[in-house]
Amino acid sequence: MKLKILIIGTLCIVFTAITCHTFAQVKKTSTTKKAAASVAKTTAIPAFATVQEIEDGKGLIAKSDCLACHNTEKKLVGPAYIAVAEKYPQNQNTVNTLSQKIISGGSGVWGAVPMAPHPTITLADANKMIKYILTLKNTPGSLK
Ligand code: HEC
Repeated sequence: MKLKILIIGTLCIVFTAITCHTFAQVKKTSTTKKAAASVAKTTAIPAFATVQEIEDGKGLIAKSDCLACHNTEKKLVGPAYIAVAEKYPQNQNTVNTLSQKIISGGSGVWGAVPMAPHPTITLADANKMIKYILTLKNTPGSLK
């Protein structure tokens, strides 16, 4: 009888040791994965834009009248910037086309309401604004 208790006791200790070890191991891998994910988040910058251009674009949008008609996530008078980012391929061609629309105005893509032209915005600034808008797709939350 005593021997039985001893054996069960030993088994319990061994079992606890194994589960603890496995648990620690699982914890370890999950923290490594988390670290990798956060690196991926901060490095998800597309080839056509630099972090500096994206930051500048965000600032230029805040300083201009854009936010009177646009929101990052919600449709106002104009489409949500995330919706714009999801609609177009992320390349220089899109940057050129959409920059031209900021400067000359646009209509008929998102509804009946046209976007007023912005003739005083330079092409270089419009490029940065579009680069910022397009990256809202890759970096949800981090650059908003
Ligand atoms: C008076 C309201 C208004 C302002 C101000 C405004 N927009 Fe718009 N924007 C719109 C509307 C409306 C549309 C949809 C036009 C369409 O359907 O083609 C639009 C569309 C867009 C698009 C998508 C164009 C396309 O063809 O898909 C981008 C990008 C954009 N705006 C960026 C900007 C930026 C950057 C600014 C600030 C410099 C700005 N907008 C200021 C109303 C506005």
